[in-house]
Amino acid sequence: MNGDLNIPTCNEFNSMLGKPTINDFVALKGQRKIVCLTAYSAPMANVLDPHCDLLLVGDSVWMVVYGMDNTQSVDLNTMIRHGQAVMRRRKSALVVIDLPSGSYEISPEQALVSANEVINKTGADAVKLEGGREVRESIERILSAGIPVMGHLGLTPQSIYKFGTYTVRAKEDMEAEQLRKDAKMLDEIGCFSVVFEKIPAQLATEVSKSIHCPTIGIGAGSGCDGQVLVLPDMLGITQEFSPRFLRRYLNMGEQMNSAIQQYVKDVRSRDFPNADEQY
Ligand code: KIV
Repeated sequence: MNGDLNIPTCNEFNSMLGKPTINDFVALKGQRKIVCLTAYSAPMANVLDPHCDLLLVGDSVWMVVYGMDNTQSVDLNTMIRHGQAVMRRRKSALVVIDLPSGSYEISPEQALVSANEVINKTGADAVKLEGGREVRESIERILSAGIPVMGHLGLTPQSIYKFGTYTVRAKEDMEAEQLRKDAKMLDEIGCFSVVFEKIPAQLATEVSKSIHCPTIGIGAGSGCDGQVLVLPDMLGITQEFSPRFLRRYLNMGEQMNSAIQQYVKDVRSRDFPNADEQY
């Protein structure tokens, strides 16, 4: 309950309505591994929702759906549109939406305005934003307004112009030490979870054990509390991207290719449409 006001908290409301809650998600730490995938559309959300604890409307949408080279220039409206589509089909998974680059770094006020817009227009459960100490005040401002925040450390694709490459982060002692401090800080200020992207497995395991909130890894080894993959990558829709951490569960690109070749054949041979497929 919310102190003296005696009104239920957002978590309690959701729980009463049978909706997923942040508390339920956090409680999974230490109980079982947490399953997350990215989702960008209603049909995808429909398929994923029964299987996943969390659906991430990642700014990776800009690369894997729109074909851009990086996530840099995606805007808030695009994230909102995809967030709305996913929310139309979510039933039991938490939905988290990425705040895009440029929508939270200028000031804590800017961060809160962006987070509010995303949550109010989509009804999603939380926002995710990249970075540690440099965005601490923005995260605190969003949290102070009651919006749950997921952190993101290690390889932070929105900083691609700063780092210049997508290679493994925090291999050197100094960067690893900074990551430990940032993770501790995000945990202490109240992030409900933190994504670790492309960092050494040993470091991810150590930090996962030392903080209270669940850690979700992508290229960060098996010691994280859960895993996330970018859906079109794990389904083999995107084919040009094959980092070591990526396990492909399907080769959908190839399957689509043969289906389309068959369709071409059928149209050209007048096999499609047949008598049952017309009015
Ligand atoms: O944008 C995204 O899909 C992400 C995941 C890689 C964690 O941030």
